[in-house]
Parts: sequence; C-alpha cells; structure tokens
Amino acid sequence: MAAITGFGGYVPDRVMTNDDWSKLVDTTDEWITTRTGIKERRFASDEESTLDLSAMAAERALKDAGITADDIDEIIVATDTPEVYTPDTASLLQHRLGCRNVPTYDLGGSGCAGFVQGVDVARSRIYFEPKRILVVGVELISRLLDPTDRAICVLFGDAAGAVVMSPGAGQAEVLAVLSGTDGSKADILTLQTGGTRHPFTAEAAARGDHQRLDMNGREVFREAVHHMSGVVEQVLQRIDKNLEDVALIIPHQANLRIIDAVGKKLGASENQVYVNVDRYGNTGSASVPLALWEARESGLINTGDLVVLTAFGAGFHWAAAALQF
Ligand code: ACO
Repeated sequence: MAAITGFGGYVPDRVMTNDDWSKLVDTTDEWITTRTGIKERRFASDEESTLDLSAMAAERALKDAGITADDIDEIIVATDTPEVYTPDTASLLQHRLGCRNVPTYDLGGSGCAGFVQGVDVARSRIYFEPKRILVVGVELISRLLDPTDRAICVLFGDAAGAVVMSPGAGQAEVLAVLSGTDGSKADILTLQTGGTRHPFTAEAAARGDHQRLDMNGREVFREAVHHMSGVVEQVLQRIDKNLEDVALIIPHQANLRIIDAVGKKLGASENQVYVNVDRYGNTGSASVPLALWEARESGLINTGDLVVLTAFGAGFHWAAAALQF
C-alpha cells in the first residue's frame, strides 16, 4: 500500500493578466477568456529558476508530511522545462534540499501527464521496497516559449507542486493509477529543436526554433477530452466505484473548455470538478499537484473523500489516479 503523506505547491508572485498580454501581442482578454477560461497566470522572476520553484513546493510537502529532507529515499521530478539540459533537475533538487545520496530521476518530455505518471512509478517502487519518495511536478515555461506566438504564449504559466509518498497509511491512500500512451499522436504537440533530429544550431536559434512549440490545438482538444474522461472511467472501474462515489475530480488545467467537456462526458456535476485554470493558466506537469495542494489547503477535501486525478500531455500520454483521503 502506498499513501500520500504530504502536499506542497508554489506559484511565483508575478501576475501576468490577459490585459498584460494584449499589450505585447495581438490578442484580447475576451479572446483568451472565451477560448480558454484563463484570466491570469504567474510568471517566475528573472532570479527564479525551475530548481527554485521545485524546492519551494518540495519544502512545503516535506513540512506537511512532518519529515525532513534526510528522510527522503528517492526523488522523481516531472518537467518539460528542466533547470539545465543535463543533469536532471531531480539531482540538483536532492542537493538543494540537503537529502542523502538517494537515487533521483526526471520524467521529461511527457508534458502535463508527467506528475501523475510519477505517482504511478513511485507507487510501484514503494510496493516492492518501502521508501519515502518525493514526487515533484514543475514548469518554468514562460522563459522557453516564443513570446510573439499569440496562439501559444497566452496559454501557459509557471508553478510547482509536490507530494511525499510513503508505504502504509497517510493523508491519502493511492488506490489505483492507470496510464497510457499513443505514440502515433506524437506530432500534435511537439518541440523539435534541441534533440538529435534537429540539433540546436545558431541558424535554428536565430529563427527562434528552440522556442517553437508546434501544437494542433483542435486535435489536442479532442484527444484530451477522450482520454482524460476515459481513464477516469477505467480507474473507477478498477476500484469498483462509480462517479457518484467521487468527491472531487482534479483534471489537468489546460483549458476550461476541455475541463468542462471532460466533466460533461463523465456526467459530473460542476462541484465535482476542480478548476483553477482561470488563475494560473496551463502549468504543465505542475498543474495537477498544484491543484491538489490548493484544493486540500482550501478545505475542499475532507477525510473519507475519494479524489480522482486525471491528466494528458504531449506524447500523447494520459494518466489517472484514485486517492482515498
Ligand atoms: N488572440 C487572438 N486571436 C488568436 C489568438 C490569440 N491569443 N490565438 C489564435 N488566434 C486566432 C487564430 O489566428 C485564428 O485566426 P483566423 O481564424 O483568422 O485564422 C483564430 O484565432 C482561431 O484560431 P484557432 O486555433 O482555430 O482557435 P481555437 O478555437 O481552436 O482555439 C485553442 C485555440 C484555445 C488553442 C484551442 O484549440 C484549444 O484549447 N486547444 C487545446 C490545446 C491545449 O489546451 N493545449 C495545451 C497545451 S498542451 C497540454 O496541456 C498537454
């Protein structure tokens, strides 16, 4: 049995509103609100990096779990916007937090599904060997996106979220996690430059290719609704529960229209679906743990509640987790 024993989250102080964006690119608050539900997002300061955001969320999770960095046996960081290309952000986080020389690794490239996939990996690691594992989802995406691409730049924000997972009982037992991937859909959301197929060159940099996230918005929309709702149904089936048993669904916060469509497809009531995309935008791998932390901090989750996390991301990946508080 694996449980979550501590939750943490962090958003930078700087607020970037839709009106702020409308001064920089040809967009409006009305367009962004209608198409995405986003009103504002947080951007890291020039002094902050992915590691800083991760450490803030991780320290809160450790405190919430009532343990110190010394008690951590393993670290998983899910991110598409790492501190540096090599080594992994998780090893830098191990040193920053002052942990022992415990194993660390990043789950990179799986976009917004990364955190729930991390929970899945941690859960199976704990199953075979009792360990305390820190799982972090973090994104400092504002620094890596093309600030002139209005179709992309307005969607995202920076944040971090973290949980401590342990064997035995905790604040929330992880009842089941299901994950899936359809690699044939890899091209609907991709950033190509920087890998071996399209190495980073001066010419590519001059064109801004390193910041060019190619996204087929409509296809991503369709796939997201289909898989995020489907995997919720599957994970509920796995634990022999129905939607009526669920107190709260915490979906990846990419877009309010996607969240609404998932809720509708599942037949969920408005109160059953957590939304904070209006305040933070799409924070990638940080989105689900940040929302989980916030929902719990605000008293929305009580002992006895069944909570379901669901996410999708570039790959195309999807994953859901059922948590019993
Ligand atoms: N402001 C004003 N106009 C804009 C903006 C903007 N910020 N961005 C695009 N437009 C214009 C387009 O240029 C286009 O103009 P045209 O009709 O003259 O060509 C028009 O608005 C419509 O563009 P579409 O792309 O067709 O708009 P759509 O209704 O599909 O909405 C959106 C776009 C919001 C991206 C939608 O497709 C969507 O939500 N897709 C899901 C993608 C997503 O959430 N990705 C998240 C990242 S991935 C992840 O989280 C794992």
